Amino acid sequence: MRLGTPLSPSATRVMLLGAGELGKEVIIALQRLGVEVIAVDRYVNAPGHQVAHRAYVTDMSDRSALRALIEAEKPQLVVPEIEAIATETLLEIEAEGLAEIIPTARAANLTMNREGIRRLAAETLNLPTSPYVFADSLAAMSAAAEKLGYPVIVKPVMSSSGKGQSRVDDASQLQAAWDDAASGGRVDKGRVIVEGVIDFDYEITLLTVRARGPSGEIETHFCAPIGHVQVKGDYVESWQPQAMSAAALQRAQEIAAAVTGNLGGRGLFGVELFVKGDMVWFSEVSPRPHDTGMVTMATQRQNEFELHARAILGLPVDVSLREPGASAVIYGGMDATGIVFDGVADALAMPGVDIRLFGKPQAFVRRRMGVALATAKTTDSARDRAKAAAAAVKPAKG
Ligand SMILES: Nc1ncnc2c1ncn2[C@@H]1O[C@H](COP(=O)(O)OP(=O)(O)OP(=O)(O)O)[C@@H](O)[C@H]1O
Ligand SMILES: [Mg+2]
Repeated sequence: MRLGTPLSPSATRVMLLGAGELGKEVIIALQRLGVEVIAVDRYVNAPGHQVAHRAYVTDMSDRSALRALIEAEKPQLVVPEIEAIATETLLEIEAEGLAEIIPTARAANLTMNREGIRRLAAETLNLPTSPYVFADSLAAMSAAAEKLGYPVIVKPVMSSSGKGQSRVDDASQLQAAWDDAASGGRVDKGRVIVEGVIDFDYEITLLTVRARGPSGEIETHFCAPIGHVQVKGDYVESWQPQAMSAAALQRAQEIAAAVTGNLGGRGLFGVELFVKGDMVWFSEVSPRPHDTGMVTMATQRQNEFELHARAILGLPVDVSLREPGASAVIYGGMDATGIVFDGVADALAMPGVDIRLFGKPQAFVRRRMGVALATAKTTDSARDRAKAAAAAVKPAKG
């Protein structure tokens, strides 16, 4: 792919479907290569809208609205940044040759639903996963929990960031978990995955990049593993590199290569894995940059957003780690619009610290509004620095 001049007939046009904090960074990386970027999100002034050439507010789960926008803008590449998209339309667009879907329309389609990707990983690719059963009713969910044995984790088949997800320790908690899944799920209100709990030592995101090599063939590259802490299914802290045994790292890379190789296309994937000793389980995969990978803005020569931008454009990538580092989330802490951030200067005065504020127009108590990044000689001290910096930033009413 030749790169053109934005806002001219030669432009290389890329449409981001979803323009949150991760999309914003992908857009900035694309802008630096002179790409013309169209950002789409469901609300006005989303973070990525603010740095794109054109911004649209559209319901991306609406098939005709999504098609109309792609037909009007004629991007060469369409880059999903969220899961809640009418992926049937992406399959059609790809089949008709209207635009290339990153990494592939099939990858977007399979990963938007936990059932698609879980069955692919466990049943087609025979990769180790938690034991699981899909259920369409409270009764079926209860039978699944009895079969798997308590505790279990219940998740709506379509949800992300831990929404509608609960851990069920005994039968008395089933009804609450079912209700929670129904209200937290995205589209299908009545289907859940019931999973046995994996007693892992730690969990990682293995950022995996499929990019064109010198011969023109797609090559698979692995970033250093990222460790992270999740609270209620939402990431609060991450660090890189996560120390691993050589055997576990090799197994993790084999699993990531198998999944991303099957999904195909070009781009960066966030492969989520559970690790215990030398054993590794596949959990899920995002065919796009991953929230825990924000740490790479501090640690890698090319961060995950730059890697994604380069890979999708058919350019070479460098996944090397520069130094250990960590990230810690900055939350809204209140429900309000147009908030301000006190303490940014204090945070930035700390050694090795950097801050990103996403520019979201509206804050919620647990909404991610920014991230603190830190580097240090070890990941432990980077984590301390990142957490201290995140704590120093204090949201206040505007
Ligand atoms: N079977 C399991 N055994 C142990 N822990 C689990 C299991 N499933 C989920 N978890 C924990 O819950 C977290 C979130 O689960 P999962 O990634 O499936 O949800 P999600 O809603 O897709 O989250 P996100 O979108 O933030 O990645 C995992 O990172 C892990 O910490
Ligand atoms: Mg996850």
